Amino acid sequence: MALKDTIQTLLSQVSDIQANNAEELEALRIKYLSKKGEITALFNEFRTVPNEQKRELGQLLNQLRQETEGRINELREQFEAKQAEADKPDLTRTPDPIALGTRHPLSLVREEIEDIFSRIGFTIAQGPEVEDDKHVYGMLNFAPEHPARDMQDTFFIEKEKGVQKPTDVLLRSHTSSVQTRVMTSQKPPIRVLCPGRVYRNEAISARAHCFFHQVEGLYIDKNVSFADLREALLYFSKEMFGPETKIRLRPSYFPFTEPSAEMDISCNICGGKGCSFCKGTGWVEILGCGMVDPNVLEACGIDSKEYSGYAFGMGVERITNLKYRVKDLRLFSENDVRFLRQFESC
Ligand code: DAH
Repeated sequence: MALKDTIQTLLSQVSDIQANNAEELEALRIKYLSKKGEITALFNEFRTVPNEQKRELGQLLNQLRQETEGRINELREQFEAKQAEADKPDLTRTPDPIALGTRHPLSLVREEIEDIFSRIGFTIAQGPEVEDDKHVYGMLNFAPEHPARDMQDTFFIEKEKGVQKPTDVLLRSHTSSVQTRVMTSQKPPIRVLCPGRVYRNEAISARAHCFFHQVEGLYIDKNVSFADLREALLYFSKEMFGPETKIRLRPSYFPFTEPSAEMDISCNICGGKGCSFCKGTGWVEILGCGMVDPNVLEACGIDSKEYSGYAFGMGVERITNLKYRVKDLRLFSENDVRFLRQFESC
């Protein structure tokens, strides 16, 4: 009767079979039902029992195997259901953040300049990069023999292949060309900011490049004075470089402005005390400016007796250099991610 007891004991324990995970469950299956399992061993023992007990014990043994299999299958289904639930995508989870790239430093600075001037009423104007002599030089009061027109400075575009002599078509060498485009197409009051790329025939080095970026400003109205220019530039400098910033205007010459000036700001690196950046002077030059020459107004069809205006032009690379201390101009166009990644995206 030992076999019957064993079977009954096991039968009474079937519902207690527990497993914490699928691995434990598989271990139990092996323990009871595999070729070397306990229940299989009982079947082997069963062969030796007397015939008159075979019917009763056989039934008990089959019941034990079925119930054990049933319990193990039941637990397996529970684990599978749990796993299926865990595998379901969680639709309430916030998505992974999208990895943002960074903004190019020249774009950051150009947009900051645009932002500052837009707060005092300037709107953006654009003009073509492939220009003609008239808009880049002629209407801006450059004398016919002015050296800027020299092929050393300006990229001319050959109309016919192999034609070497300068043509009328060129890559603009400054954004002042957009002034002439705006003045010939709009009536005063005009208050525009003209950002854009310009080209000059320079050997590429840390300090010069064959293309760079400028922002031009132009304001034409009745009674515009040099004091208005000075105030606008002081406001810009403080917004861009901090409220402590001072400006200094030095007389200069440009064909398209009269009087003309170059503007320095107090060195934002040493605060004006003098350092290697400002060569000990405490000042750094950032732009050219002046009152629009009456000849330019007239060339663009604006009555210079009724209207006056100011203009200014600055290099975006120069301002970026001051803000971020980028010493080598070539870095701006090399697309080296180690350089570009240092600038914030926003
Ligand atoms: N066009 C000048 C340059 O490329 C910069 C400039 C100077 C622009 C004075 C102006 C200005 O509008 O008034 O060097």
